[in-house]
Formats: sequence, C-alpha cells, structure tokens
Amino acid sequence: MVTKTILALLIPILVGQASGNLNIYPAPEGIHASDKFQVYLSQGGQPQSSFTYITTSDKRAKETPTAKAKRGRSVSWTSFSFSGGAVTVEIHTPQDFHNCIVRPQHYGYKCQRTGNKTAYVTVSSTSRMMSVEFDYDYGSSSEDIKDKMLIFADPPESNVPNEHDSSVLFYKAGVQKLNGQVHLNNSIKTIYLAPAAWVEGGFLTTANHGVTFRGRGILSARSYKWKDDQFTTTATLDVDKGGNHVIEGIVIVDPHHFFFRGRSSCNIIRNVKMIAPWAHNSDGVVLGRYGLVEDTFIWANDDSLKVYADNLVVRRCVVWQAQNGAVFQFGWSAKRYVQNVRISDVDVIHTDWCTFKKSKCHLSTNNAVLDLGGREVTSFKVNDIVISNIRIESSCPRLVYFKMDPASTGSVTNMHFNNWFVESQTAHEILHNEIQGAFNASLSDWTFTNLKIAGECISSPCQADFRLGHHTENINFRCD
Ligand SMILES: *[C@@H]1O[C@H](CO)[C@@H](O)[C@H](O)[C@H]1NC(C)=O
Ligand SMILES: *[C@@H]1O[C@H](CO)[C@@H](O)[C@H](O)[C@H]1NC(C)=O
Ligand SMILES: *[C@@H]1O[C@H](CO)[C@@H](O)[C@H](O)[C@H]1NC(C)=O
Repeated sequence: MVTKTILALLIPILVGQASGNLNIYPAPEGIHASDKFQVYLSQGGQPQSSFTYITTSDKRAKETPTAKAKRGRSVSWTSFSFSGGAVTVEIHTPQDFHNCIVRPQHYGYKCQRTGNKTAYVTVSSTSRMMSVEFDYDYGSSSEDIKDKMLIFADPPESNVPNEHDSSVLFYKAGVQKLNGQVHLNNSIKTIYLAPAAWVEGGFLTTANHGVTFRGRGILSARSYKWKDDQFTTTATLDVDKGGNHVIEGIVIVDPHHFFFRGRSSCNIIRNVKMIAPWAHNSDGVVLGRYGLVEDTFIWANDDSLKVYADNLVVRRCVVWQAQNGAVFQFGWSAKRYVQNVRISDVDVIHTDWCTFKKSKCHLSTNNAVLDLGGREVTSFKVNDIVISNIRIESSCPRLVYFKMDPASTGSVTNMHFNNWFVESQTAHEILHNEIQGAFNASLSDWTFTNLKIAGECISSPCQADFRLGHHTENINFRCD
C-alpha cells in the first residue's frame, strides 16, 4: 500500500511535470498515431513525444462524389498546454526539406530545419493555432497541401469538473462511440472531454439553460456517414436551443455536415479547433445575438463565419478556407438584419478556392473573403459592421463579392474595413472584386482604410480590381 501511494505521488512528477509547466496530453488507446509526422516537446528538459493524431479524406471522398471531397489528403495534429517559458516543438517529417514555415506568419514563429527530416519551432505563447508547412508540400495556386500538420498550444486547463457530478457528462481519455447525436436533457449542464478523449458522435441542446462543453478532448464524426441521419440536425455540435452556451478548448474533427450551429443568444466559442472538413457543406460557425468567438481555429469547407446576428464579436481567430465557402458570409437567406458587429484580428492562412481547378478558376458566388452568397437575400438591414486587422496569407483569388439580387430592398450601410493586409491577390481575367446594390436597396458608406495588397496601400477601386456596380454609393478607399 505504502509503495503504491508513493508511486502514485511520484508518477505525475516523473511523467508530467518533469519539464516545468508543460502539459503533454496522454496518448489515447485505440487510436493510430500519425504515420506522417511525429512531434516532440520540451520546455528546457528532455524532449517527450506528444501524441500526433491523423485523419484522412478518403472515406468522405468515397461517400460524397457530389460534395467534391478529394482523396489522398490527410491532416495530422497535436495539442498541448503550458505556462511559463517557451516550448520547443520538434517535428519529424516524412520527407526531407530545405525550408518550412509556420502560419499564421503574424505569430512571428520561425520554422528551422535542424537535421534530416527534422524541424524546430519555438512557441512562446498559448492560444496559438499553427499550420507547419514544408517545401515538398507547400501547395500552390493550383494545388492544395496534401498532408497538413497542425499544432495547437492551449492555455492551461482550469475548472475540470467533478466526474461524479450528475449534471456532468464526463468523457475520459480513450475512444467512446455515441449513437449519433446525443440529445442533452434538462439535467445536463456540462459536457467534459478530457485530454485524449476521442468521442465519436455529436450533441444537441434541447433545454433552455446554458450548457458548457469543455476540455481538451476530441469530438469526431468521422465514423458516421456524410449527412448521417443519426444526427437530428445539420451540425455535429448544435446549440441552437437554449442560450448562454460555452464551447471551450475542444477539437471538432471531420463533421458529418456542419461543424457547429449556435443561433441562440449569448453563446461563447473559445479556443476551439475545427478541422478536417473534407466535403463541401462543412460550415464553421454561426451564432445568434451577442455571440463571441475568440482564439478559435476554423478550417471550413463552406462558410467559416456567418455574420447573421446583432452584436457579434469575433477576435483572434485563424481561418483556413478550403475549396468552398466564404470567410465572412452575409448571404443565404431571405432576410439579413444585422448590426453592431465587431470582427478583429483574424488570420486567414489559406484561401483554397482555386486549388482544385487547374488554370481556369471560376468561382461560385459564395467564394470570397467578404461575401454575399447565393443571391437569395432580398431584404437587408445591415448597419455598423467593423472588420479590422485581417491578414490574408498566400495568394487570394477574391477578396469581396457582394452583389445584391436586383429585387432586393433595404440597405447595407456603414461598413468599415480597417487594416486588411493581403499577401497577394491572384490576377484573373474572370475574377474580380465586385460590389453591387439594387434599385430599391441602398449599398452605401463603405470604407476600406489601409487595405494593403502586396505591401501597397489601395486608394482607389481600380487599383485592387474592384468593380463597383449599379446602386452603390460612397464606397471609399483610404490610406492613413
Ligand atoms: C535522410 O535520411 C534518409 C533515411 O531516413 C536517408 O535515406 C537520406 O540519405 C538522408 N538524407 C540526408 C541528406 O542525410
Ligand atoms: C436524458 O434523460 C433520460 C431519462 O430522463 C436518460 O435516460 C438519458 O440518459 C438522459 N440523456 C442524457 C444525455 O443524459
Ligand atoms: C422598387 O419598388 C417599387 C415600389 O415597391 C416597385 O414598384 C418596383 O418594381 C421596385 N423595383 C425593382 C427593380 O424591384
């Protein structure tokens, strides 16, 4: 007994705390580690392996010929948390390389080759959501990255709930298969996914109270069919019912359709990662009034962030926009009434719309950073929208596509876009930035302040290939 007690006390010190405040998550049983990448972490001490997950696109590609999932793609990822000094991340790659890069580049993290098939990245802050990219698989304007490697540096976990609390659904490390989407009834207030919990299924709120989803575990729908009817609704995690919900810290992988819906009021998404959206219709985030999204990674294969409800705040997020959808979407329904939205500090690390389309890239109406998709909205009251400090990496095929249906009424006014930095804009004969109002709808008072493309500040629409169509008024480009 005594020996056991001493061991129990020693094991966390030997295994977990050996290198200060670095918390390496356990390896789950029953899950294959990535066969592409291995990751080792240290915070001054000996490097230790950090379990690296992998999921691939082939299953979705087989299931969804119409949803255009591409076969032969993979994403590997690992997560950890720390406080205190910087963490060194050592990445072992399947092929040797000369150069590598960490996105968002705005973090200022260098990727260095330190040996054959080995890269180092020093991570000095938490809430860092990174794609590490290697020159043998950088992608291009006509090719996506085949084997992605994501690294998530979390803030330390706090308030781990008591697993015996009857209001908590507590998922420990390891694989747990749910029967599709669990309907949460009145008694459940918290869903906890421990580090290395791999929960196959989804959740749906049905009560009026707020529910908290938290932890560092994984919610996956990869073993379900595309648009599987074991899910009552379109989103793998659906909190449309209720309000004051919090989703914090988890990773959502390979959704059966949308990743998330939460059109009830006052919901918070913080430090969540949405990854592996192999098929079209893998949408990211939609929230109701007073929604907040922060420090969240959204890799969506449809709209990443829908700007649908009043008082939305989005900040410090990273978006990887796959082949389909828009980064900031205003379209897709008969009415768009939204005001007082503040979006800031979003790093758009890739816009992949053209990467599968060879040389002639024709885009759907729903493909742009700022977009009004699907010409179905006919009644607008859009006012007081501020989208600031947006950094768009790589070559972006289209920044803005906002053309109203000719039968539209209402107005879209008082829109401010400040400090957008675009690494480069792809030159295309058929693709342009387009803004157009309607006879009975005013589209007025839009300001682009310090829009910089390839380092050059844009002071007139032509300079950035903007086509201002009929019924637009007072669209300004300013350089401070
Ligand atoms: C890298 O390692 C591989 C074996 O893993 C070896 O075949 C190759 O020659 C090495 N390359 C260099 C530059 O050392
Ligand atoms: C919901 O309530 C029923 C009984 O009222 C219970 O059997 C079921 O397990 C509950 N579901 C969850 C997710 O707690
Ligand atoms: C504009 O509104 C008027 C009055 O409702 C209507 O008669 C007209 O057809 C509308 N014009 C267009 C182009 O929709």
